[in-house]
Amino acid sequence: MISFQKSSLEKIFSAFALSVMILHYSNAQTPKLTLDLTKPGANVSPMLYGLMTEEINHSYDGGLYAELIRNRIFKDNPSKPEGWSLVNEDTINSKASIKLMATTPDNVPYDERRHAINGALQTCLRLTVEKAGARVGIANEGYWGIPVKPSTTYRALFYLKGTARTEPFRWPWEPKPTTPPLPDIEDKTAGPITVTIESNDGKTVYASGTINLVKSPFWKKYELTLTTRPDVKPTTDARFVISTNRIGLYYFNLVSLFPPTYNNRSNGNRPDIMEMLVDMKPKFLRFPGGNFLEGPLITDAFPWKQTLGPLENRPGHRGSWGYRPTDGMGLLEFLEWCEDMNAEPVLAVYAGYSLNGDHIDSGPLLQPYVDDALEEIEYVIGGANTYWGAKRVADGHPAPFKLTYVEIGNEDWFDRSGSYDGRFNQFREAIEKKYPQLICISTIADAQYPNLKVTTGKKPTVLDEHYYRNSWEMWANASQYDKYDRNGPKIFVGEWATREGAPTTNLNAALGDAAWMTGMERNSDIIIMSCYAPLFVNVNTATSTAPKAWQWDSDLIGYNALNSFGSPSYYVQKLFSQYLGNKIVSTTAENIPTQRRPLTSRDSAQGITTPQMVPTVFYSATFDENSGMIYLKLVNTSAKKQPIQIALKGMTKVLPAATLVVIKGNKPEDTNTISDPEKIVPVTLKIKGVAPVFSRTLDPYSVNIVQLQSAK
Ligand code: AHR
Repeated sequence: MISFQKSSLEKIFSAFALSVMILHYSNAQTPKLTLDLTKPGANVSPMLYGLMTEEINHSYDGGLYAELIRNRIFKDNPSKPEGWSLVNEDTINSKASIKLMATTPDNVPYDERRHAINGALQTCLRLTVEKAGARVGIANEGYWGIPVKPSTTYRALFYLKGTARTEPFRWPWEPKPTTPPLPDIEDKTAGPITVTIESNDGKTVYASGTINLVKSPFWKKYELTLTTRPDVKPTTDARFVISTNRIGLYYFNLVSLFPPTYNNRSNGNRPDIMEMLVDMKPKFLRFPGGNFLEGPLITDAFPWKQTLGPLENRPGHRGSWGYRPTDGMGLLEFLEWCEDMNAEPVLAVYAGYSLNGDHIDSGPLLQPYVDDALEEIEYVIGGANTYWGAKRVADGHPAPFKLTYVEIGNEDWFDRSGSYDGRFNQFREAIEKKYPQLICISTIADAQYPNLKVTTGKKPTVLDEHYYRNSWEMWANASQYDKYDRNGPKIFVGEWATREGAPTTNLNAALGDAAWMTGMERNSDIIIMSCYAPLFVNVNTATSTAPKAWQWDSDLIGYNALNSFGSPSYYVQKLFSQYLGNKIVSTTAENIPTQRRPLTSRDSAQGITTPQMVPTVFYSATFDENSGMIYLKLVNTSAKKQPIQIALKGMTKVLPAATLVVIKGNKPEDTNTISDPEKIVPVTLKIKGVAPVFSRTLDPYSVNIVQLQSAK
């Protein structure tokens, strides 16, 4: 006999209430899960879910880092002022031009080479105004637009100086110019300079202010605020303009514009994206990479020392993903980002291997890199009485940060020279000697690269595994950790994702992710940490002046300059992290349905001719000892409704009402986009009729989180 009780929210949730049934017997084919609550299970790792980040897809510049000016120190492209253009409103009566002034080339006259502010700011932009019939100036297009919002105050700053144009000074040995000298331009630059956020056609001014340019041949820093009116409509069709109506030569450097930031940090992050991250309740942040840690060449590794202190001291560096990072998101900003999320840093230190395949052998040549890592760690956790700890204090953060894990390199399995064994040991020995409390993570995992793993010295206690797979591969491998050696090293799944959908993932990817996460959760006695990658993507496509914003498909959180949204995978991450107990509930399954995985070209290449059967239902359960709550996660990857029986072994009383959170869609390809950001979002429902043995029917393509409360 099957009976059911209807939900009290009958009208709204009748479909769900109908599917909650107290089961007295079941058909042999119905999948059955038995949650064994008779004995406490293993501990769920307290750091199971975290985040991984690096500068990819404009994650920081044009992403989380709130700076709005693209190419603020003019170093993005040595041959043109990318992101910048001339504003000339009267081309008949005005004559003006802009030019990148780099201090380095020898083939320009001496005068034109001497415009450095310091060693980091050696390139500037010159605006030459020969005739000023109307407004002339420089405009910055931002990172695919400047975001305009109503009643918003922006902080602008820039370095500026004004001069006349005269025949440039030449050393006696410099060749005489072959072209006739340019006519002199008088210096009328001193006076008011207008600063605006305005529409790209210049017709609408959203916010405006002025500074008074003082007469001086030297650089001076100017700062002001700009506030938009309450009635402006949000838009990204805007630019930032600094303009004049007087002749002369104007030199600009470090032009910066910040909107309000999360926690009002002066060099801070976008609030909307930060709020999405905080909602995920991440326990750690792995940074700064990823490939971004390593750099294309050894000289391009993350230069943490030159990411500290005032922006004036940050030259940026060559990144790993085709554009030049400002390093506005520097080491301290990463750490403060952790602090704002109540997450612990997992610091990856450069370990002497870069993306082009070059490596530094262990021994004396590697020692400077080991020392550099020790100094970096000292910056993070050192006291005020240490050299680098004192630097951190001087940078405004007196308290040391909490640090448990240091990762030695990134994906060193690419280093086929076999040097990682020696490199890892040299780093680990030095780090453990100075900081015995720290745990060093190896980036070569035994299971993934048995021939490359670290074999000498002490066995690494934590290994970083990376998996980028499609949904079939995730479903096929979701139980891989069930078979891992319980006495072996702990596993950090430091990068993983189901790669379907672009730029952000679709529902099918989220189903792959959720299935995979049930496997990590069931095994969170050995999976101590995990983090999805990549975290961020700027979703802008190419324009006439700016390239496509992303390099890697299938990312978690998408945004443009104004708005952000979560992919279906984001919501899976968020829910798995939010609804998690502290004990694993041992669960056995019967009659789990399967489906045939289509053969791939890789299968044929390997001579595999029999299609593999993979499950369509995935599950994990955890128990919270403090609240008595059981969190049961159920994933149905198939197109069919799926009945399932659940037995709570050892539990005689459970509250009949429970909370169900569901993520689902009609088609695996369904997704969220910047223009339709909430197509797939979690829905929270109340269900009734829960009992020590009960059944549910899972919707097609659904991730379900049932919160069951044990009754006293
Ligand atoms: O997440 C993108 C890249 O994938 C990371 O930078 C790298 O570690 C991995 O290969």
